[in-house]
Amino acid sequence: MLNTDRPEPTPGTAAHPGTATPPAAPGPAAPGPAASGPPAPGTPAPGTAALRELIAGELIAARERTARLTDCVEDHDLTAQHSPLMSPLVWDLAHIGNQEELWLLRNVAGRDPMHPEIDPLYDAFEHPRSERPTLPLLPPAEARAYAHEVRGRVLDLLEASPLEGTRLLTDGFAFGLIAQHEQQHDETMLITHQLRRGPVALTSPPPPAPVGADRLPPEVLVPAGPFTMGTDTEPWALDNERPAHQVELPAFRLDTTPVSNAAYQRFIADGGYDEPRWWTPEGWKHRLQAGLVAPLFWTEEGGQWLRRRFGVVEPVPPQEPVLHVSWYEADAYARWAGRRLPTEAEWEKAARFDPVSGRSRRFPWGDASPGPEHANLGQRHLQPAPVGSYPDGGSAHGARQLIGDVWEWTASDFLPYPGFRAWPYREYSEVFFGPEYKVLRGGSFAVAPVACRGTFRNWDYPIRRQIFSGFRTACSVEGD
Ligand SMILES: [Fe+2]
Repeated sequence: MLNTDRPEPTPGTAAHPGTATPPAAPGPAAPGPAASGPPAPGTPAPGTAALRELIAGELIAARERTARLTDCVEDHDLTAQHSPLMSPLVWDLAHIGNQEELWLLRNVAGRDPMHPEIDPLYDAFEHPRSERPTLPLLPPAEARAYAHEVRGRVLDLLEASPLEGTRLLTDGFAFGLIAQHEQQHDETMLITHQLRRGPVALTSPPPPAPVGADRLPPEVLVPAGPFTMGTDTEPWALDNERPAHQVELPAFRLDTTPVSNAAYQRFIADGGYDEPRWWTPEGWKHRLQAGLVAPLFWTEEGGQWLRRRFGVVEPVPPQEPVLHVSWYEADAYARWAGRRLPTEAEWEKAARFDPVSGRSRRFPWGDASPGPEHANLGQRHLQPAPVGSYPDGGSAHGARQLIGDVWEWTASDFLPYPGFRAWPYREYSEVFFGPEYKVLRGGSFAVAPVACRGTFRNWDYPIRRQIFSGFRTACSVEGD
């Protein structure tokens, strides 16, 4: 339930700082990241002026992406509902502005609501997505004008803010929260674009081709031992990523790369969708009810698998990570392959733990913010890169593409870490904890760097597959 389905603050209850309501996280007095790279989004910048500049840059980048996603189609495409799973794009547009107003202008600055009458329309808890097209939503021009007006006031507020004094302000947390929120809705809007039928509206260059990917070992070994999971130091990390805690794991092996379309096609060709023994009972029931035979957006024509990607139908590229699969499908594939999905802790250890220093890094490659050489993030490309890409983004153990490309399903339910404390409101994470949701890690090509960390946790229903989801597999090491 990526991001946009996330709890939103309830406008009526968010009257003052501290009692607020959408996404976010606390921060044990941040000792500062043990980092060596340049400041990442969410990393405290040295000095208030630099922090202001970093925040303004993130807010502007998010708005530019929102504009790209909403200026590329006609108004009727913005107000239409392209799938009952998604909101009309114009809802996301005004909701982005509404949340920004709520959190920054009202909660942080104590201002009065600009248009209190529209608050209920954009409360994600009050109206499920399927219902949103029936609401008297702001038309596109008014939605843009509202979001623009809010942003102008927020940038003025940022200029004057001490960026300290309250928990919401410290390290610019509330501003970082809003930059992440907008980018998360941008990912959701990109999913809407993928579901939309009609002329092609978005294009991008393909990701760079990998070099020497065929020489990579199929799996990497992560030795037994403890590691630090979660964070106390990422200033813009959300509550569910906290606190940092030690986890002891037996040795395991993990696929070097996400599972490719070619490998997944072998599962299909081998009758994987027809064999109940590969599926959990719930998974098999769902497979039958939903009539699953292949990943979402795939069709078979003349013995060849084709896929639809942002309006373009093309042969399934064999070397790309498989995309748009549910947890049930990922789990069935892993069983068919004689393996299993990694647990969330295994995924994070493989992504962050550096056996040389004994510490957990911010990202697989180290502490530096993600650059184009590290990972396929931020909608630079409209597809995952071929497996084995981004050698500069490899982990200490040699795994590739743990960050970016595809969200990776894990075996784990979405649960709180020991010592979890909800902040700034329960509905961001706490109300979702439990066995109903499975955790996804790593972010997709549609995730912005500001909303992506080695500690970032996403969660969704195991049937969900319109999201940019893939997976890799793992196995335990015998005798350990
Ligand atoms: Fe939202």
